Amino acid sequence: MYRKLSFLFIAVIFLAQCVQEKKGSDSKMDSFIDDLMSKMTIEEKLGQLNLPGAGDIVTGGQAGEDNSALAKKIKEGKVGGLFNIKGVEKIKYVQELAMKQSRLKIPLLFGMDVIHGYETVFPIPLGLSCTWDTSLIEISARIAAVEASADGINWTFSPMVDICRDARWGRIAEGNGEDPYLGSQIAKAMVKGYQGTDLKANNTIMACVKHYAMYGAAEAGRDYNTTDMSHQTMYNTYLPPYKAAADAGAGSFMASFNEVDGIPATANKWLMTEVLRKQWGFKGFVVTDYTGINEMIDHGMGDLQTVSSLALNAGIDMDMVGEGLLTTTQKSLDEKKVSMAQVDAACRRILEAKYKLGLFDDPYKYCDENRAKSEIFTDVHRKEARSIAAQSFVLLKNENNILPLKKSGTIALVGPLADSKENMPGTWSVAANFSKATSVLTGLKEVAGGQVKIIYSKGSNLDADSSFEERAGMFGKALGRDKRPAATIIREAVNAAKQADVVVAALGEAAEMSGESSSRSNIEIPEAQKDLLKALLKTGKPVVLVLFTGRPLALKWENENIPAILNVWFGGSEAGYAVADVLFGDVNPSGKLSTTFPQNIGQVPLYYAQKNTGRPLAEGKWFQKFRSNYLDVSNEPVYPFGYGLSYTNFSYSDIKLSDTALKADKALTATVTVTNTGSRDGKEVVQLYIRDVIGSVTRPVKELKGFQKIELKTGESKTVSFSITPENLKFYNYDLKYDWEPGDFEIMIGPNSRDVKKIKINWAK
Ligand code: BGC
Repeated sequence: MYRKLSFLFIAVIFLAQCVQEKKGSDSKMDSFIDDLMSKMTIEEKLGQLNLPGAGDIVTGGQAGEDNSALAKKIKEGKVGGLFNIKGVEKIKYVQELAMKQSRLKIPLLFGMDVIHGYETVFPIPLGLSCTWDTSLIEISARIAAVEASADGINWTFSPMVDICRDARWGRIAEGNGEDPYLGSQIAKAMVKGYQGTDLKANNTIMACVKHYAMYGAAEAGRDYNTTDMSHQTMYNTYLPPYKAAADAGAGSFMASFNEVDGIPATANKWLMTEVLRKQWGFKGFVVTDYTGINEMIDHGMGDLQTVSSLALNAGIDMDMVGEGLLTTTQKSLDEKKVSMAQVDAACRRILEAKYKLGLFDDPYKYCDENRAKSEIFTDVHRKEARSIAAQSFVLLKNENNILPLKKSGTIALVGPLADSKENMPGTWSVAANFSKATSVLTGLKEVAGGQVKIIYSKGSNLDADSSFEERAGMFGKALGRDKRPAATIIREAVNAAKQADVVVAALGEAAEMSGESSSRSNIEIPEAQKDLLKALLKTGKPVVLVLFTGRPLALKWENENIPAILNVWFGGSEAGYAVADVLFGDVNPSGKLSTTFPQNIGQVPLYYAQKNTGRPLAEGKWFQKFRSNYLDVSNEPVYPFGYGLSYTNFSYSDIKLSDTALKADKALTATVTVTNTGSRDGKEVVQLYIRDVIGSVTRPVKELKGFQKIELKTGESKTVSFSITPENLKFYNYDLKYDWEPGDFEIMIGPNSRDVKKIKINWAK
C-alpha cells in the first residue's frame, strides 16, 4: 500500500514542484530573506545559529509567562531551533514563544534523532542495510517522516552514513556497514524517504547527513577517537555515501566529533567548505554535533572564542548545544577574527532551510493534533515495520534444515533477550514507546496461535558482571538481573530444554551494547551466555540461536557448534512478531550481511574490499611463511560481506558477457541465470563485483558495483543482467582525479562477496 501511495504522492508533488520552479521560487526566497535579514540585529542573526536542547522549557503553561532560561532566549530571538522535544502540544507551545513573543517572529526548527523510525520503529540501520532493498529502506524513512512530522518534528538527524570497518565501534549499528557503494544507494534512499520531493509538504522533514566525515574510522574502534587516513581512502571509501546524500538533495549536514588530517572536523575548512560546498555543490546548512565546538577546547585547539571562530571560518552554520557561536562571535567580529559576511552566510542558510520547509508560510504546519492522533504507530505502519524487520534478518547457518520450525510440539524459549520489549527497538529509538514493542516470547505465542507449547526460561543474565550489565542497559533498557547463582538459572533452562522438541535461544548483545559511546574490545557473545549455550547443546536437543546484535560479532565457536543461527539485529517495535514470522517460515529470510563477521577481534579491521598486498596468501591456504597472514588464525572471516542463507537454495549459472573486449564508452552486459533449486519460494540478492586488475594506484581485490534483489518461486529461473559502463570503473587516482583506467577487469557475480563466478575482460580507452 505504501509503495502505491508513495508513488502517487511523488508524482503529484513532482508536478507541483515543476510549476513552482517555473515561477522562480529561489529569487522569491532570496528577496524574502534579504528583507528579513535587513531587519535583524547581529544578536538576532547569531540567535539563528543557536541550537539548544530542550532544556527546562518543557513545562507547558502560558507561553507569555514562561520565565525559564530557554524561553527567555527564544523571546529574545537567540534560538534558531530546538531538538528532542516530543509531542505536538509542547512543540506548538514553544513555537508560539517564537511567533508571539519574539521581535521578528522567526519560526523555530524542531529537530530530533529520528534514526530508524519514530514510534513505529524499524530495524537498526545496520539491520535495515541487510535488506539490500532500497525501496523498503525508503519506505521506512517515509513512514518515519510521516510520524515525526505528525508529531511536530521538521528536521531529523539522519541518515547516518558513516562507513565502518571496525566491529569494535558501537556506532556501526547506526550505519549501513562497510561498503561505499551499498552505503551510497542507501544514503540516497533515506534522503528521498525523509524529504520526498517537496520539503514544503507537511509530511516531509529535512534530512541531516551525519557524521561528516570519516567518523566510522575511529582508531581502535573507540568512539570519538582520532581518525587518520589517506585522501585516496577518504575519496574512494569513506566520502561516497556523504556525497550521494548531498547529490540526493539533503537539506543539512552534521559535522563529526573526530579530527580529520589533524583538525577536528568542526573546524576543518577543507572538509566543510572545499569538499562539501565547492567540490560537491552542497547548498544546505551544516550543524555541529552535540557540543562539537566546545569539545575542540579538549582537542587542544584553543579557548571557546577561538574554537567558535574556527568553526564559523570553516563553514559551520549552526552550533548544537554549546552556545559558543552565540556568546563569543560579537567579540570575534570586533577583533576581526570572523567577518560579518560569514555570520550573514550562516544565518541565511538557516533561514533558507526554514523557508524551504514552508515554516514562514505556516509555522504550525507540523502541529496538527489530529494528525498526531491518527498517523502515528498505525496498523499500516506497524505492518510495514514487521515485514521490513523480517527481511533484515540474516540466516547465518541452518544445518539439516532445522529452520523453519513446525507450528506444533514444544519449544523451549530461553535467553536474556527472549522476554524483553525494551530492547527490541535497539539503540537510538528516542521516540519509541517501549511498552508497545513486542518481545520474542509474545511474538512466538501469537504467531504460533496456541498450536505450540512454549516454555520460557531466562537461562542466564546478559553478563556475569553486573556493572557491565548496568552500562549495557541504559535508557530504560535494563534486562532485569536474576540474582540467583548462574548454575541455578542455567539448570532451569536445561530443564525446559529437556521437555521441548527444539530450543530457541534468544541472546547476544543488549540494545545499548552498541550505539553511541558503546564500543567493545571483546566482540564475542558474553561468556555467561555461552555457558548457557553449552549447557543447552549438552541436552542433545536441536538449538536455534536467535542472535541479537548491533555489530558483527566473532562467532567462530557458535558457527562450529550451534546448528542454526538467525541474526536478527534489533528489529524495532515489531521485532517479536518478525522473529516468529521467520522462525515459523511464514517469511523466508533474505537478508545479506552488509558487514564482514570476523573470526576474532585480532583480524579487525576485516573487510572484503581489501588490497592484495605484495605478498598475498595463495587461495585456500591458511599460512605460508613470509606471506600476509597470521600464525594463529586464517585470513578468512566466519561470514563474508554479502552473505546470508535462505530456507531455499539458489544456483548460479556461469557469467555471460555481451562482449569479450570493449573500447571506450561502450556498455557491457553481464548476465547470469539464477535458479531456485529448493522447495520454497524465496528472495535472493544477486551481487556484482568488479576487480580492476592493474591500476596507477593499487586497487581492491573486488568492489561491489551493483546488486538486484529478485524473487524466485520454487523451481523458477531468472536471468539477471547488469549493465556496466566506464562510469562503474571510475575511482579517485593519486591526484584525486575521478576517472577510469583501461586494462583487464574481473567481473564477478554471486550470492555473496566470497562465492562468486568470475570472468575476465579487457577494456581499452
Ligand atoms: C550524536 C548525534 C546526535 C546528537 C543529538 C550526538 O551525541 O553524535 O548523532 O544526532 O547527539 O542527539
